[in-house]
Amino acid sequence: MSALSPSPAASVARLGDVPSLRAQVRAWRTAGEDVALVPTMGALHEGHLTLVRQARETCRRVIVSIFVNPTQFGPSEDFSRYPRDPERDVALLATAGADAAYLPDVATMYPPGFSTTVSVAGLTEQLCGPLRPGHFAGVATVVTKLLLQALPDRALFGEKDYQQLQVIRRFVRDLDIPVTIEGVPTVRETDGLALSSRNQYLSAEERAAAPHLAAVLRRVADAVRAGAETAPALAEGRAALEAAGFGPVQYLSVNDADSLAPLDRVAGPARVLAAAYLGRTRLIDNVAV
Ligand code: PAF
Repeated sequence: MSALSPSPAASVARLGDVPSLRAQVRAWRTAGEDVALVPTMGALHEGHLTLVRQARETCRRVIVSIFVNPTQFGPSEDFSRYPRDPERDVALLATAGADAAYLPDVATMYPPGFSTTVSVAGLTEQLCGPLRPGHFAGVATVVTKLLLQALPDRALFGEKDYQQLQVIRRFVRDLDIPVTIEGVPTVRETDGLALSSRNQYLSAEERAAAPHLAAVLRRVADAVRAGAETAPALAEGRAALEAAGFGPVQYLSVNDADSLAPLDRVAGPARVLAAAYLGRTRLIDNVAV
């Protein structure tokens, strides 16, 4: 076992406010230890635990924040029914080798009079952006705060939320926040469904149909990688999703991997991305071309 390997079921420090978070990080830094942050909204699954294990590969100490951020949910979205089980989450973090769980409350993150928003232009004006007004500003603001509260060396995010990852990379660069952002490949069920805390909303029938999303993304990626124009591949993919019971399909799109500009044809790194409802549950996924 290397010095960085997780000790199974080690104890996880629970931190609830900024002074205790900073004191913990300061103590580690004084001891010469580097620090990774894994921001989450809880309802942890194997995808999150993979981020924690990956964080331990490069940093001696790992903090996981658990905060269901109200400002990134629209008025008709699932903020109130979003799954919350901090006790289970902290127990899982112990098995994955996290050192601390940071569980701020809403008043800690948004004290009375809070009036600042981080908003990223361009990247947020397509895909999920217009469909979820205010969502990325909510994400960018809370992630900026988490980064400035913890001041980690690295922060890790899943590629499943690919547009979110690009938005975070952009404001971290634009605002000179001194942290390395690491994107981690999506963890999938054996049938291809991307792990998501929202998968638990799916009925048995919807769960059976859900892997079609990843399958269609892979088919579109294969077609456009082989030189096909994106429009017919996307039309075929959209029809396949609708035939599998998805609807509405909010977008199915081939975009530049960095700028997220939509592409008619692929000539460099690209991504196929989709958002679609299955019953009441909105699923998103993406694959590299
Ligand atoms: O991906 C998530 O779980 C959230 O959007 C994040 C990054 C923790 C911000 O609330």
